[in-house]
Amino acid sequence: MTGTPQRKYRSDYQASIYLIDRVSLDFDIRDGSTRVTARHSVRRNPQLIGTGGRWWLDGRDLRLVSIAVDDEPVADEALEVSETGLWLNGLPDRFTLTVVTEIDPDRNLSLEGLYRSDDMLCTQCEATGFSRITYFPDRPDVMSRYTTRVEADAERYPVLLSNGNCIESGAAGEGRHYAVYEDPFAKPCYLFALVAGDLGVIRDTFTTTSGREVALALYTEHGNEDQCHHAMASLKDAMAWDEATYGLEYDLDSFVTVAVGSFNMGAMENKSLNIFNTACIFAHQDTATDSDFARVRDVVAHEYFHNYTGNRVTCRDWFQLSLKEGLTVYREHQFAIDHGSPGVTRIEQVRMIRDVQFPEDAGPRAHPVRPESYVEMNNFYTITVYEKGAELIRMMAQMAGREAFTKAVKHYLDKHDGQAVTIEDFVLAIEESTGLDLAQFRHWYAFAGTPRLRVSSRFADGRLSLELAQATPATPGQENKPNFDIPVSVALFDDAGQVVRAPEIVRLIEQRETFVFDGLAAEPTVSVLRGLTAPVRLEFDQPDDALVRLMAHDSDPVSRWDAAQSLYIATLKAAVTAHQNDEPMPALGEGMMTAVAALLADPPDDRALLAEMLTVPSATQIGEAFDAIDVAAVEAARRYVKREIAARFEAELERLADAHAPSGGYVFDQVAAGRRRVFATALDYLACLDTPAIRKRAQAVYDAADNMTDRMAALNALQDLPGEEREATRADFAERFADQPLVMDKWLRLQAATEDGDTVARVRNLLADDRFDFTNPNRVRALVGGFVRGNPLGFHRADRAGYALVADEILRLDAINPQLAAALAGLLAPWRRYAEPYAGGMREALARVGEADLSDNTREIVDAGLGDQAGP
Ligand code: PHE
Ligand code: ZN
Repeated sequence: MTGTPQRKYRSDYQASIYLIDRVSLDFDIRDGSTRVTARHSVRRNPQLIGTGGRWWLDGRDLRLVSIAVDDEPVADEALEVSETGLWLNGLPDRFTLTVVTEIDPDRNLSLEGLYRSDDMLCTQCEATGFSRITYFPDRPDVMSRYTTRVEADAERYPVLLSNGNCIESGAAGEGRHYAVYEDPFAKPCYLFALVAGDLGVIRDTFTTTSGREVALALYTEHGNEDQCHHAMASLKDAMAWDEATYGLEYDLDSFVTVAVGSFNMGAMENKSLNIFNTACIFAHQDTATDSDFARVRDVVAHEYFHNYTGNRVTCRDWFQLSLKEGLTVYREHQFAIDHGSPGVTRIEQVRMIRDVQFPEDAGPRAHPVRPESYVEMNNFYTITVYEKGAELIRMMAQMAGREAFTKAVKHYLDKHDGQAVTIEDFVLAIEESTGLDLAQFRHWYAFAGTPRLRVSSRFADGRLSLELAQATPATPGQENKPNFDIPVSVALFDDAGQVVRAPEIVRLIEQRETFVFDGLAAEPTVSVLRGLTAPVRLEFDQPDDALVRLMAHDSDPVSRWDAAQSLYIATLKAAVTAHQNDEPMPALGEGMMTAVAALLADPPDDRALLAEMLTVPSATQIGEAFDAIDVAAVEAARRYVKREIAARFEAELERLADAHAPSGGYVFDQVAAGRRRVFATALDYLACLDTPAIRKRAQAVYDAADNMTDRMAALNALQDLPGEEREATRADFAERFADQPLVMDKWLRLQAATEDGDTVARVRNLLADDRFDFTNPNRVRALVGGFVRGNPLGFHRADRAGYALVADEILRLDAINPQLAAALAGLLAPWRRYAEPYAGGMREALARVGEADLSDNTREIVDAGLGDQAGP
């Protein structure tokens, strides 16, 4: 926890001097301590010549019991042990290394390595958790075949799991038992997994195209089995989809998933033994919303897809993380689009990029999709590596065409099967297979920042000239940006909404280029960057009537939604400025009113799309229009516009709510979920009018609900309406779901997002409540994350009490779970984006955190936030 943290550089990569062909692990699980005996067959890396004999093994928080080379204890002179690992000296070219360590999973609250989650023991090794289990070269380019023996008390831990096939099991005396697993595939240590516990299970099977029968099992704490069926069905769906889409079949006889309550992330793709946060497995209509169902489906698919993109072909080093994550998120996105409303699914992806990735790419933590350096790898599991990484893949797929791209991905997987490779290897394989020239495209991986794409159009003599220009702002450590290779889809429509030029992709390579469309009868309406063909900010001033036409007629639902968003933004911007200048709020823009009226009069068949188009842009999107975010003004503008829409269209919204009211018989499918979404949206608008009728209606919806989606719609509508109805429904909720921690997370979020009264005091009380558990990341994210994200006015309170609360929690957490503490610190880091007094208050809180003795994780984030933005 002290000293200057070591920064690692991509350019410093060196292959491992020794390789480990075989790893044999023995876990002796006892109360109070677990003994790990590791035996490795080691040989010199034949590709490296020159000095050898000396080797570094990573290891943290381990008690070294013994270490031997070829069964001879290593002499003291040949051993240098430190806090982060050890050096071995005088090694032969080939040897057997035996390392015995002791670890204490019960006292490991970092949730890395072997740790306790409620009554079970489980592991998390990505990125570098394996070095909390034994001394080992904890790097993904050392790939080995693992045999694992686990022994534990038979009553307390009847289920013993590890990667691969169970080849032996039995009694071990004194009420103990054991199991031996063998994984036939060589893997990096970050994919190692072990679970021991008294668990319930649901089982199923999947038969692959070539006839292999795969046994599927999903384990969870007893009593939750009925919440696991959707995850199991999703897994089978994902297996079938990967065969149908990429021709990829599962490669072992068993696939096991375990759901654990304490987990730092969503889930982990360990070979044949995925470990999941319960939040990404449990889905039952009583306790999970439609979006929970969708998240479970997509995360289950994501982890399954990693079996090829990540496990069979893995990363050479952690700078290459997007090699597996970008590609796997892309595959997950394709899967999601094939399983829901394609338009709305893409809208959700676009919103994520704009609301979360663009801000990251414009803030103190901006980094390329392939970072150049890091202090703590755990800080780089970012929206940039994941989602921007997926957008880069999507761009290549668009340029190549989907079929050619799928073929190219298969070429990549064949070429590098069983290897640990780089992003460059991937891009090369895509070039080889598709014939694309990606020379300039590679800049997307190397340079951070969101390019601005400025578009202007001129029309004369039947000819439309579309001028595209690009510019990318400086980011920490990267002053000057090259030109990117930007695929931009363009389509032209006439006034009646007919297509006059079918969508095509043009590539902007130079800083500025003009594209000409000839032979047009009249000036067309231009639709560009349709569905966000590149992760850029579009600057294109289009008149309201053009936007209204696109909103009504564009053939791409994402473009229709985008046009609607632009219409809302114009009014919202004016409202922000009015609030800032103490002027009366502006009248709602005419274009926007026309748009909303048209939507309500003639709604799209896709009800989820209707709901999206009726939703005003997020606070983040409004803030994007300003140099400095004025939190109070943005909130005031959003509320004002929503209330005005509700007042003007009250009758239509009532009718919409009636036509989409809950009707019982819950199913999770596109049509039913779309209907529920429209109902929730209408209810949310009507709630802005705060009438006794709407309060009663929300309460009635809550009381009659046969599913969590409708219940949450009612609770959300009552969110800003203090009174009897809100208190009654919340009290019922807290009691009804008291024994369901994931549902209590929703309750914590509701409390944290409630504005009236002293929110900070309320959140502080909840932090001390029995229903809160500081060591569980889901609870912390719900309460503290829910407060920061869900309660802008409370968090940004003038007396700075909101910032102080978050700073206190970062400091308290840093001592037990640095990974989570660093994530919370990320909430204060982008203070520069805010107007005063917000910026100064956030900065002060961050500086106070910075004065403490911090983990490397949190230190890296705090330093970036307080730095001069020059960066590493
Ligand atoms: N690799 C996991 C994924 O599928 C994420 C993860 C990273 C989980 C690190 C735990 C720790 O995206
Ligand atoms: Zn992943």
